[in-house]
Amino acid sequence: MNTIITTLENNILTIKINRPDKLNALNKEVISELEQAFISAINSHDVKGIILTGEGPKAFAAGADIAEFVPLSQSEAKEMAQKGHAVFDLIENSPKPVIAAVNGFALGGGCELAMACHIRVASKNAKFGQPEVNLGLIPGYGGTQRLTRLIGRGKATELLLTADTISGEEAKTLGLVNHVTEPEELLVKCTEILNKINKKATLAVAKVLNSVQAYYDKKEDGFGTEINEFAACFHTEDFKEGVTAFLEKRSAEFKGK
Ligand code: COA
Repeated sequence: MNTIITTLENNILTIKINRPDKLNALNKEVISELEQAFISAINSHDVKGIILTGEGPKAFAAGADIAEFVPLSQSEAKEMAQKGHAVFDLIENSPKPVIAAVNGFALGGGCELAMACHIRVASKNAKFGQPEVNLGLIPGYGGTQRLTRLIGRGKATELLLTADTISGEEAKTLGLVNHVTEPEELLVKCTEILNKINKKATLAVAKVLNSVQAYYDKKEDGFGTEINEFAACFHTEDFKEGVTAFLEKRSAEFKGK
């Protein structure tokens, strides 16, 4: 693996996204290696619980890799969103508990990735947000659906439309994260929670996860709507302007087209 580091200790697998110079932005390779890591963790007898985190002091993941957006056609954008959805669904449907240890920025795809985990623990320097509208885009990895489920329609809509970022403490108040810790205590807290769960009956743990997931599996297909709307953004001038402005390190000037 090029972009992921895994370590196994006491039946807990830690999966670390390892692109700190790009704030652990989720490029195609990261998405594909996350998929491989989760498939092998789910199938391994040695793994009872999983911690997902980011390398370095700054970021869990600062989003999908914006540089990869530039050449995408609408149908390629749709494929990209579908792939991301499939991998995040795999994580959400894991029969083994997955905790996101959010050690810094969890923006865009990073926030969506954390939300696909069963439990979120944030360090005090964590920052959450869905800033896609700044790029003339919308979330494409399940964010419109999972944020609404986790914190409710009103606050989710505000965060999605304003692109505001919120601290770990605010995320806790909203129910987006379960605990907030000092940065050096983050993995300790996640390990503590998993050690407690790992003493329970494994099959019962899997059945709780499956039953909680069933509550959300109404498949009203908001996820499908999101994929289509995300891909449609790639056809707009504002999207091209938003992404170009980010890469050129300037403010975007949107024209509403
Ligand atoms: N995709 C691709 N590259 C990204 C990225 C992303 N989502 N987020 C950060 N990076 C890269 C930067 O381009 C920069 O690369 P460079 O050093 O080669 O120029 C590097 O990571 C460091 O980021 P930088 O912006 O210099 O750090 P910062 O501390 O000044 O700002 C953020 C941090 C998170 C506020 C800023 O990087 C940002 O706004 N990122 C994009 C967030 C976003 O819109 N996510 C949703 C994407 S759909």
